Amino acid sequence: MKILIIGINGFLGHAVAARSTAQGMEVFGLSRSKTPNRQVKGTYLVADRTSSKAIGEIINVYNIDVVIDVLAMKLPDTQALISELDGHIAQYVMLGSSDVYRNYELLHGLAQGTPTSNSIDEDSALRTTLYTYLKDRHRAAAGSNQYLDEYDKIPIEELVRTLATDWTILRLPMIYGPGDKQRRFSWAIGHMVRSDEPLVMPRVWAEWITTYGYVENVAEGIALTIGNSRALKRVFNIGEVAPVNHLEWSRRIAEVLGWNGDIEISDDPTIEFAQRLSSLDLSVQFQIDSRRIREQLGFYETVTITDGLTRTAVDERVRG
Ligand SMILES: NC(=O)c1ccc[n+]([C@@H]2O[C@H](COP(=O)([O-])OP(=O)(O)OC[C@H]3O[C@@H](n4cnc5c(N)ncnc54)[C@H](OP(=O)(O)O)[C@@H]3O)[C@@H](O)[C@H]2O)c1
Repeated sequence: MKILIIGINGFLGHAVAARSTAQGMEVFGLSRSKTPNRQVKGTYLVADRTSSKAIGEIINVYNIDVVIDVLAMKLPDTQALISELDGHIAQYVMLGSSDVYRNYELLHGLAQGTPTSNSIDEDSALRTTLYTYLKDRHRAAAGSNQYLDEYDKIPIEELVRTLATDWTILRLPMIYGPGDKQRRFSWAIGHMVRSDEPLVMPRVWAEWITTYGYVENVAEGIALTIGNSRALKRVFNIGEVAPVNHLEWSRRIAEVLGWNGDIEISDDPTIEFAQRLSSLDLSVQFQIDSRRIREQLGFYETVTITDGLTRTAVDERVRG
């Protein structure tokens, strides 16, 4: 099976290439840089996703069976890409996000209403608001986050469901691991590697439950869907099996780092940590139910939480 990973040079693309190669797939991957910024598995190709014709040619020349689209973020360029590949490949795998769910807009105070109180499964309510990153004023055109003005996975999911080619939509959790640009656990790791002083955490943050996934485990879930007849025309959540709150995450991280400081819970809204969270309604929990991919495709985590956190902490230390 020949697969093409669009965005192989990044955090997820690189991990998916490693996992797919290990499963015996023939991997091709494209990014814009002339040379990959890390060692990637498979054949590295230079192309821009926005040049849909060039990608159509790659699909023809290399007889690609499955496209894994890491970069389905904006509807217009995804429309162009999809019209180029539809009917020419066997499967299109869209890497989506759990930010499509209703709880996301409630968490960010973008809508009023009752959150999904239990674990969020693939049939749970979606957001009623679109383009949630579009703030009052548009970002500077040259800025690296400018794409967020047009970012929304909901219209793209709708488009993908209309394809003639078989498709799979994967809704991903908050991903951590080496190379994570968002540095999901830096609030704990950063403090613990620098200081023996107590880690002081706002209560709402300590008690908040959201769903994470370690990058190699998420890549394992993605790779399981490739060429899998049980994954066609299906939507799957990917995420850890039993989400815990941040107090528990900080204890896990302390254990991995051998950090013996105190963890303190604060109700003071003026501390800097609390100020950073002020735009969020952390009474809205964000527990993603990943039973479908576990029961139907046999997904399970191959990297333990301890190993995943250890690798993440090593990377955080190097980055300083
Ligand atoms: N990280 C999370 O927690 C999380 C959670 C949910 C969903 N997701 C989804 O995961 C995806 C992001 O994956 P990631 O974290 O791996 O991103 P990433 O680290 O930014 O990697 C994307 C790679 O794609 C390449 N690229 C960017 N624009 C390109 C273009 N126009 N044409 C070709 N290549 C291009 C870049 O390399 P070059 O500069 O060399 O081109 C970059 O290294 C998004 O779809 C996001 O919604 C992520």
